[in-house]
Amino acid sequence: MAPAQRRIGVLTSGGDCAGLNAAIRAIVYRAQKTYGWEVLGIEQSTHGLAASPPRARPLTVHNVHDILNQGGTILGSTNSGSPFAHVDSSGSVKDISQDIIDGYHELGLSALIGIGGDGSLAILRKLAIQGGFNLVGIPKTIDNDVGLTERAIGFSTAVNIATEAVDRLHCTAASHNRVMIVEVMGRDAGHIAMSAGIAGGANVVLVPEIPYSIGVIAETIRQRQARGKHHSLIVVAEAVKNADREAVVNTTCTGQNRLGGIGNYLAERIHATTGAETRVIVPGHLLRGGTPSPFDRLTASAFGIAAVDLVAQERYDRMVAWQDRQVKDVAIEDAINEYATVDPDGTLVKTARGLGICLGDCTPDSCDLMVGAPKVTAIV
Ligand code: F6P
Repeated sequence: MAPAQRRIGVLTSGGDCAGLNAAIRAIVYRAQKTYGWEVLGIEQSTHGLAASPPRARPLTVHNVHDILNQGGTILGSTNSGSPFAHVDSSGSVKDISQDIIDGYHELGLSALIGIGGDGSLAILRKLAIQGGFNLVGIPKTIDNDVGLTERAIGFSTAVNIATEAVDRLHCTAASHNRVMIVEVMGRDAGHIAMSAGIAGGANVVLVPEIPYSIGVIAETIRQRQARGKHHSLIVVAEAVKNADREAVVNTTCTGQNRLGGIGNYLAERIHATTGAETRVIVPGHLLRGGTPSPFDRLTASAFGIAAVDLVAQERYDRMVAWQDRQVKDVAIEDAINEYATVDPDGTLVKTARGLGICLGDCTPDSCDLMVGAPKVTAIV
């Protein structure tokens, strides 16, 4: 027997990515077609709940049927700040958590499905505990760093786009005898760089989990030059660190630190040490936008259905997860605590090394290359 009439809410939180709309569609289909429930789409993540009156709109099979392949999120999202220390337009800091909780109750929701990355899920969970509301999580992030799930919505599309960039750059790099550096997003996890680097046939792949040495990278390029290969492809994750654990960050004029710039940083040093002409390509938010890959649409659809089923079973504080070729569910708390980075001893790293891809680190074969390598002293 279908559970009694309910009204559930859905919101998307954190950076957008491809596949969010496919998840929203699946939630609405399952909630209405299987259970006969009402679904409210909360606008702009928790901001929609904090507004007075709350900003939400009814979602029906009729108005979501054609969003399966649309990029972005029809609900809007936000990835700035925390509601526990919200900075308003005048610059003052305020805790708006109670406004969000009041919004949930004012809308008469019996549960909220939050689609977000680890940061968003942590915030939503804290709000749910404080406000006594029912939460189910769906993992999304191009970074694929949410714990206990092999897939997060958005990762597949991001890898496709980054791989296509590498594919397209091989021929132009070869035509000009250049070193091309593709700087990709991913924050502290190098999954996009590792996957796109292997899939795109890069010569060097740098990820935050493996500290890099300019000397090792330069020597790889010099050895390729010596073999008559005057072009090279490097894929670098934005948050890579050198042996002193320093990353390249940009400081904005308002004093905020943002990742980005490692491509240019490497390019100058590679040019200085190898003489190779270098160019930098930063796909940036292209990795998040546009049509979701079939894989992301499938993942999002499966997650959406399973999340509604968790609500039907009244199993809250759970996150749907992809494990062992199927959708399972895990405690949100455990997923957040098991932040998933690239395993330096894992299959993809072994694959990359097996293919002869330089990972920028000091291996038994390359340690002597470090001798005489320029030391990185300043990172801005
Ligand atoms: O977490 C997703 C992500 O795309 C990261 O890979 C990236 O560092 C960050 O968001 C960029 O955020 P913003 O959209 O604020 O520039």
